[in-house]
Amino acid sequence: MAKDDTPPPHAAPDWTIPQDWQSYSRQEHDMWDRLFARQADMLPGRVVPEFMEGLEVLRMTKQGIPDFDELNERLTKATGWQVVAVPGLVPDEMFFEHLANRCFVAGRFIRTPEQFDYLQEPDIFHDVFGHVPLLVHPVYADYMQAYGEGGLRAARLGMIKELARLYWYTVEFGLVRDGAALKLYGAGIVSSYGESLFALDDPSPHRIAFDLQRVMRTNYRIDDYQQNYFVIDSFEDLLRQTRDADFGPIYEQLRDLPPVEVADLLPSDMVLHKGTQAYAKAKAAA
Ligand code: PHE
Ligand code: FE
Repeated sequence: MAKDDTPPPHAAPDWTIPQDWQSYSRQEHDMWDRLFARQADMLPGRVVPEFMEGLEVLRMTKQGIPDFDELNERLTKATGWQVVAVPGLVPDEMFFEHLANRCFVAGRFIRTPEQFDYLQEPDIFHDVFGHVPLLVHPVYADYMQAYGEGGLRAARLGMIKELARLYWYTVEFGLVRDGAALKLYGAGIVSSYGESLFALDDPSPHRIAFDLQRVMRTNYRIDDYQQNYFVIDSFEDLLRQTRDADFGPIYEQLRDLPPVEVADLLPSDMVLHKGTQAYAKAKAAA
């Protein structure tokens, strides 16, 4: 996240900018439609049903890049959340502050054709298609707000890095149990065609039952598919373990524990699938 705390000149003091929806080009709307069609065909049965419901409720099935004003009418009615545009990454505390106020910050730019399959910085497709549908779900909506409040506390305690890992392994790359099967809910997965297949079906990554303290110790990679996914039981359970817990004592324990490296397994892990790590090994050898 951005280091400097002053917003760029064209942004408001809270870092928001107008979406300026009218200025998107035909090509930019087409890019959204191509990305949308590919994900909407593949995700049913893989993603949690609440995600597909969110797309419907928000009428995101309509063509073109969503107009935030239109989207917000429905979203606010559902759970009191809204989406606002920002120029790029915002400072941590600004990000938390927005979440605590049920405000989700999103980039307004869309990827170029060369970035169709993978890009590292979040564009509007990742931010809006990936994150916004689940904000219609009341329990998930509460989790995101509580996370923002937790972030403001973590900032005071010097524990942002630990709390950021929780965001990474839930909001961005989380899986949830569905009977004997697993389903996707993390925005980083569901906005990526390749990772939506990889996270559920590939033998390479570890799939480990969610353990709050373990997750907050675990490093992550931002440059390629994840080597670990953590599996929650349900959104209700995630909310109970986070919003309804005092992280103070957990942070105190974390201060004395070393981080866990990507792909390392611990004796205490409840491993649902022990990954071969073949994908990451092949990449490292190449
Ligand atoms: N309950 C946590 C605390 O005491 C805050 C939190 C809520 C963190 C929800 C993450 C998600 O700090
Ligand atoms: Fe994201």
